[in-house]
Amino acid sequence: MVILITGANGMLGEECARLLSRTHDIIACDVHDTLQYSDSIVYEKLNIMNEQRVLEIIRQRKPQIVVNCAAYTDVDGAERDRRAAWDVNVGGVQHLISALSKNGGKLIHISTDYVFDGCAGPYAEDEPPKPVNYYGQTKLDSENLIKDSQIPWAIIRTNVLFGNTKLQKASFVRWVVEKLSRFETISIVNDQFGNPTWSYGLAQAINRIIEIDARGLYHYAGKDYINRFEFALKIAGIFGLDPTLIKTTTTRALNQLAPRPFKAGLICEKTAKELQVDFYSIIEALTMMKETA
Ligand SMILES: NC(=O)c1ccc[n+]([C@@H]2O[C@H](COP(=O)([O-])OP(=O)(O)OC[C@H]3O[C@@H](n4cnc5c(N)ncnc54)[C@H](OP(=O)(O)O)[C@@H]3O)[C@@H](O)[C@H]2O)c1
Repeated sequence: MVILITGANGMLGEECARLLSRTHDIIACDVHDTLQYSDSIVYEKLNIMNEQRVLEIIRQRKPQIVVNCAAYTDVDGAERDRRAAWDVNVGGVQHLISALSKNGGKLIHISTDYVFDGCAGPYAEDEPPKPVNYYGQTKLDSENLIKDSQIPWAIIRTNVLFGNTKLQKASFVRWVVEKLSRFETISIVNDQFGNPTWSYGLAQAINRIIEIDARGLYHYAGKDYINRFEFALKIAGIFGLDPTLIKTTTTRALNQLAPRPFKAGLICEKTAKELQVDFYSIIEALTMMKETA
């Protein structure tokens, strides 16, 4: 199959391009001049905010599937510049839908547990979304656009992604490892819960959606439901770093611009049953990441 991946230089985009290129023809796309990790994968520079260019590439390349990994992912930045977040996360998705409705093809879109308010997580697919910040609102708006469209689609929600990819703007794992390796003290919130997700596992779930032509809404997340402080302790444990350098703090003390859903995270029973994919604990994922780094 011909599969076009947007946001291919991002954490999930890279994981998807690497995995899917083993069995499919991949057109990797991103806003940058080059693909940062491969010379052999076909690359097109594509800003999904540019409606004409989206249409042109989809017309030329005729992908049967578009995996949309492009997104404005800066949660606090989205509060400061709502327009920029909307243009990518909602406007860009509208352009993909519109091009696919003219040329045929299915959209696989990535969303987030931040569509929920975090009062009573983790959440299943059928629970009502209620975002508490603008990033979450844009992701929910994009989900609704897709659900209301006439094109074939699958949406997969995930949370707290981590992996070994090259261009990691905001990799929590790498940040913790770097800080502790330099014997610096770090303060991590103990009141934001989720189930951290290995980006490779999510790419496998996307691959399965492609294989069996699954449609609809799915949750994919890691096995452990924990807070960020506990996550940092696990990272220190696997990488042999000093856990006493990790101190706890609270979201209130951190004073982040965007409100956060506290008890977020995802229940993945439907995905386990219908997609029959592997789910990974943090220790399993970090161990494999360490071995292959
Ligand atoms: N990371 C998480 O913890 C997490 C959790 C839940 C859901 N998700 C969702 O998972 C998906 C992938 O996230 P990720 O962590 O892989 O994000 P990422 O690392 O930030 O990658 C996103 C990629 O999209 C690119 N991009 C930004 N604006 C674009 C545009 N207008 N047109 C085309 N490409 C554009 C980015 O380029 P620049 O870097 O130059 O902006 C980046 O290469 C997103 O939909 C995100 O909402 C992520």
